[in-house]
Parts: sequence; C-alpha cells; structure tokens
Amino acid sequence: MAYETILVETRGRVGLITLDRPKALNALNAQVQDEIVRAAKAFDENAKIGAIVITGSEKAFAAGADIKEMQPKTYIETYMEDMFSDWDALTRVRKPIIAAVAGYALGGGCELAMMCDFIIAADNARFGQPEITIGVMPGMGGSQRLTRFVGKSKAMEMCLTGRMMDAEEAERSGLVSRIVPAGELLEEALKVAGKIAEFSMPAVMMTKEAVNRAYETTLSEGVRFERRVFHAMFALDDQKEGMAAFSEKRTAQFKNR
Ligand code: CAA
Repeated sequence: MAYETILVETRGRVGLITLDRPKALNALNAQVQDEIVRAAKAFDENAKIGAIVITGSEKAFAAGADIKEMQPKTYIETYMEDMFSDWDALTRVRKPIIAAVAGYALGGGCELAMMCDFIIAADNARFGQPEITIGVMPGMGGSQRLTRFVGKSKAMEMCLTGRMMDAEEAERSGLVSRIVPAGELLEEALKVAGKIAEFSMPAVMMTKEAVNRAYETTLSEGVRFERRVFHAMFALDDQKEGMAAFSEKRTAQFKNR
C-alpha cells in the first residue's frame, strides 16, 4: 500500500524513511504511526537493506503525537485501542535504525527518536517532553527511555517542566551520539548507515541485540548473554573472513550482507 505521510526510499543498502506532514510539523497521528512501522518492517524483511534511517525536516523531526487527534479521545478509547502500543513493533526491528534529528523532537517525536538505535542530531535540534504543559505525560516510552539515557534528575526536570534541551546539552547528556551541521545531517546519517550496512549482517544484528539487552537485564546476565552471542559468532563465515582479511591486510568481503 502506498504511503501518504512519509517518503520511503532506498539509498544503496540503506532504507530511508522521511516524515512528511510539514503543515503539522510531522505530528505523529495514527496514520503516521502505521506507515512508519510498516515501512520499517518492510526494510527489516528486505535482504538488500542493511540499515534504516528515520528523519524529518530541517524545522521538525516530529513535534509530538497529534494533539488534535488525541484531544477528543476518552479513557475507554485509549485503553481499548491500547494507544501507542503499535510503536512496540518498531523496537522489534532487528536491523539498526538511526534517527537523524533536526529541529523539534518533542513529546512523541523525542520518544520516536529514542526508540531508534542511536540519534545523530543537527546543531538546531531541540529535544523535549512537553506533555505536562498540555495536561498529560509522555505516553510513547519517554518517562522510561529518557530516564535511562540522561539519568533521573534531567529526565525528571524535563518531564515535569517541559523544558527543551538543545543539541549541545543532548550530546553532553548522552541522548545523542553526536552533532553535525544541519545542512549535512542527512548525508552524514546515510554515510554512517551505509557503513553499517557493509558489515556482516548477522554480526550487526547480534550486536544491536546485545547492546539493547543492557537496558533489559542485570550486568552479570548481560555480560553472560554477550559472551554466548560472541561465541556463536564463530559459527559465521564472516568471522573467518573478517579475521583472515585483517591478517592478510585486505578489506573483508563479508558474505552475509
Ligand atoms: N499535534 C498536532 N498539531 C501540531 C503539533 C502536534 N503535536 N505540533 C504542531 N502542530 C501544528 C500546529 O497546530 C500548527 O498547525 P496550524 O498551522 O493548523 O495552526 C502547525 O503544526 C505549526 O505549528 P506552530 O504554529 O505551533 O509552529 P511554531 O513554530 O510556532 O511552534 C512548536 C513550534 C513549539 C513545536 C509548537 O508547534 C508546539 O509546541 N507543538 C506541540 C508540542 C507538544 O506539545 N508535543 C507533545 C505532544 S503530546 C505527545 O507527544 C504525547 C506522547 O507522549 C506520545
């Protein structure tokens, strides 16, 4: 089915999803949610794709869940449809997803970026959880993920006051991996995604799984999980090839891409 609220393209082995509701600053209504999840799942299942980039416009990555769509909803409606639970499917995508964030990443926009595997921010990026200012709280994981990423004090302040963080503060706090000039954001995110997509795909996917495990388990269980997965990698041709290429001083030719 065609997409109406996002643009979906491939750039080499990278799948690119661009939010495209400029008049609403890419606010995430039910259709946007459905389309992003569908597009990401399709890329995940596509053997020609090795990594995914999600981006918005220079003014807004996404200014949050769609307030106008949510405003009339009743409790029973939100409960019965389990509002926002479909986003969980995005976190089950096994290939890496990079959020390339310029402009506003507020409320659900910040939460969508945090569902991705890492965030590259433009120098004009602004992150925030302003739900408190409209009488609610984060509902797409913000109270949990922001707290894990930037710590309790900053997350609590942001969720309780709605204060925004600029790109510098976001980098300092560990929310984003790095900052690039706004004009170079997409090119840089595609370059990073393209690099990942050239590695052994099972190794990439196992690495993503292991890092994510750090957020779900104890340190000793996490280290044990890592070791088991590390051992399993010796069943891959790509481990033999990668290590042989190092010794032979040549570029590895990974089979499982
Ligand atoms: N939902 C619906 N429409 C939105 C929107 C949102 N989250 N954010 C912006 N828009 C719309 C505006 O209503 C406006 O539409 P009209 O032209 O039809 O009036 C258009 O986008 C442009 O917005 P502004 O005129 O407000 O642009 P601005 O540059 O003056 O301000 C802004 C930008 C500071 C981001 C401001 O738009 C804003 O505060 N947006 C709402 C941010 C917010 O509260 N996000 C949290 C939403 S709740 C949530 O996300 C829950 C959750 O946890 C999942």
